[in-house]
Amino acid sequence: MTEQTRYHRHMLLQVVTVSTRQGRKGDAIAKWFETRARAHGAFDIEPVDLAEVNLPLFDEPEHPRLRQYQHAHTKQWSARITRADAFVFVTPEYNYSAPPSIVNALDYLVHEWAYKPVAFVSYGGVSGGTRSVQMIKLQATALRMMPIPEAVSLPFFARMFAADGSFSPDAAQQQAADAMLTELRRWADALCVLR
Ligand SMILES: Cc1cc2nc3c(=O)[nH]c(=O)nc-3n(C[C@H](O)[C@H](O)[C@H](O)COP(=O)(O)O)c2cc1C
Repeated sequence: MTEQTRYHRHMLLQVVTVSTRQGRKGDAIAKWFETRARAHGAFDIEPVDLAEVNLPLFDEPEHPRLRQYQHAHTKQWSARITRADAFVFVTPEYNYSAPPSIVNALDYLVHEWAYKPVAFVSYGGVSGGTRSVQMIKLQATALRMMPIPEAVSLPFFARMFAADGSFSPDAAQQQAADAMLTELRRWADALCVLR
């Protein structure tokens, strides 16, 4: 029996590419993970690229918990995040911390994130981006998201690119991705009840 046949209900996983900078490596890593997640079969997959979403620095006049959004970009962001059942943030670490793109994107909304699980694919030097993940978890829990401990952490990730530029981590990272997706689906099923 494949993973696909074990899941009867469709759940939408949004794979969020956090890096927005020109020449970023994060998009290749996100593409690798999306392929892996489709093969795993626990979720329908929707890529979300924060560079394409292109939110300005938070500019809503009211607190987002009130949902009185003034701007079209906020209304579109709200509609998009509302339809997700779970998230994976594909994130680098900038200055031992979270990239401002994800901090800003999270600040825009409240209820849309709540009672949904989030997992992380992080990358960097010796830290594998884990300091960024720890920072994002603080903010995510304030929004009533459930960050799960299973993760894909990619230290010295620059060594994991193939000659053709595709991202090609070793078998242990592939297994970590599968284990994370299985656990994320369990949380997605459980948290449906709270929504
Ligand atoms: C502003 C900035 C700060 C960085 N700080 C860190 C850091 O604290 N830890 C780390 O491991 N790598 C750090 N790096 C190196 C990144 O891991 C590397 O540039 C990576 O490619 C960034 O991801 P991206 O290409 O998807 O944007 C930093 C890079 C930038 C641009």
